[in-house]
Amino acid sequence: MKSKDVVYVNGEFVPRAKARVSVEDRGFVFGDGVYEVLRAINGRLFATRFHNERLKRSLDGVRISLRGSDSPERFVEIGKQLLKENDLVKGEATLYMQVTRGAATRVHNFPPSDVTPTVYISVAPFTPYSELAQTGAPVISQPDLRWGRCDLKTLNLLPNVLASQTAKDHGAFEAMLIRDGVVTEGTKTNFFGVVDGSLRTHPCDTHILPGITRSVLRDLAREVGIALDETPVKAEEIPRLSELFLTGTTTDVMPVVTLDGKPVGKGKPGELTRRLQRVLAESMASAAD
Ligand code: PDD
Repeated sequence: MKSKDVVYVNGEFVPRAKARVSVEDRGFVFGDGVYEVLRAINGRLFATRFHNERLKRSLDGVRISLRGSDSPERFVEIGKQLLKENDLVKGEATLYMQVTRGAATRVHNFPPSDVTPTVYISVAPFTPYSELAQTGAPVISQPDLRWGRCDLKTLNLLPNVLASQTAKDHGAFEAMLIRDGVVTEGTKTNFFGVVDGSLRTHPCDTHILPGITRSVLRDLAREVGIALDETPVKAEEIPRLSELFLTGTTTDVMPVVTLDGKPVGKGKPGELTRRLQRVLAESMASAAD
């Protein structure tokens, strides 16, 4: 049994089982909030600055203003404190930070300005998908049914939840989402493919989340001389994919070896994928925070 299980809610460190938010919280009632997930390795958080910038962007995008001394930077400090309190300074862990528009009588428009945002921060032990990262994962394709601001990391994840469950029902690791005939991203990951020898991924527009792992990997790829073409993979190009992989805070670089039951390329992790997997692993081991 874990010795401690402490989370942070609205200014207090409390045992998880005792943590409370109102039933009128707009996160609960409307999914009216935003979040971030960070990776901690031996107590050091990875790519903190990028996550903070994205959280600020998400908050601005949904017009939630933090109050007093609250800021993404402060939340990260609280996260570090939680890692210590929960004995997670050794090994792998994740940090979850969520801000909602606060608790108020249910009306769709924003609540009165004295309603303060709800802040919830927690940490959890994490086990990387090391075995699957070696063998490669099965993936299915699904229609992308999400809204028009997928670039904001909001709590409105119902289409992601449903597609993710459909993937699980099919024994797949992830669903690759397709909108208007192009591959956008996954339910919790970004997708990269190799078509006719070039590495491709969807550009950062309103149809995908600008993944932190995606951008770290793009820079690392450039450093080792691998060009990234941000032209989305078209559905009709899927049969020509020689490699496919996904990236994310909790997935790193994950090779995809089957798509909708058919092998991708040779049906095993490709050369470029393996190389980028190594490059990211080295960077995470050395540069965590
Ligand atoms: N998800 N696309 C979507 C829709 C995501 O939800 C995520 C992350 C990513 C990858 O982004 P990053 O590299 O910054 O983790 C792409 C987190 C891990 C989650 O919802 O749990």
